Amino acid sequence: MTAQLIDGNALSRQLRADVSARVSALKARGITPGLAVILVGDNAASQVYVRNKVKACDDTGMHSVLETWPASLSEAELLARVDALNQDPAIHGILVQLPLPAHIDAQKVIEAIDPAKDVDGFHIASAGALMTGMRGFWPCTPYGCMKMLESIGYDLKGKHAVVIGRSNIVGKPMALMLLQQNATVTICHSATKDLKAMTLQADVIVAAVGKRNVLTADMVKPGAVVLDVGMNRNDEGKLCGDVDFDGVREVASHITPVPGGVGPMTITMLMVNTLESAERT
Ligand code: GUN
Repeated sequence: MTAQLIDGNALSRQLRADVSARVSALKARGITPGLAVILVGDNAASQVYVRNKVKACDDTGMHSVLETWPASLSEAELLARVDALNQDPAIHGILVQLPLPAHIDAQKVIEAIDPAKDVDGFHIASAGALMTGMRGFWPCTPYGCMKMLESIGYDLKGKHAVVIGRSNIVGKPMALMLLQQNATVTICHSATKDLKAMTLQADVIVAAVGKRNVLTADMVKPGAVVLDVGMNRNDEGKLCGDVDFDGVREVASHITPVPGGVGPMTITMLMVNTLESAERT
């Protein structure tokens, strides 16, 4: 069996068209959804990510503000910027790009964001809302993964989902979202004794470790759905995920490619969260 691709670019185009239409409707009521993105320092990957986020705002008709600060910015100065954006009625979403320089406590900065504007979904209020099934912002990458499963009409009820990775940004919220849809969920991580024994039982596998070839064909049950959150470079410098794509695609029923899979969905869900924040005002 050769797996069907779940095309994150195509799905993003569909979802962003819906976002654009809803942005137009809000604008007709005098509200323009606004996203503020703060970048501290000159991390090359972060610069690309924030540019793409600002471009997505432009493409969907949203207002955006990009603040770039030198790595020497103090924690107090950054907290003051977050506070100013919390008070700014033109801003419905605030995103502080991670990683931050080492002298800044990232969690303290995240907790300073008004939870009503936490479109990244990283605030403990957002994490708590997800955990208890209350309304809040879902972190964009796992939210995008859920949309990808929805796009293939996948019913998670009673299915075994294995999440590889336990980060606050992807692994843990991913597990909670899958659980909310009534999957049986296993979280695997660096101390898991026999990863292959776990993944071979899985109907759905989400690989979110940040390491090449974490998942190979021999570790996948025929017909499983595989979502690849990884963003790595191979020996030739080409972008690749955590999954051995060429091998696993011969076993899985559906698989997300890298690039063009989960990556574009992350930014799309950021647009959705920002729009919904504005719709709630
Ligand atoms: N760094 C890498 N991914 C992300 C993300 O989704 N949000 C933020 N704020 N920083 C990131």
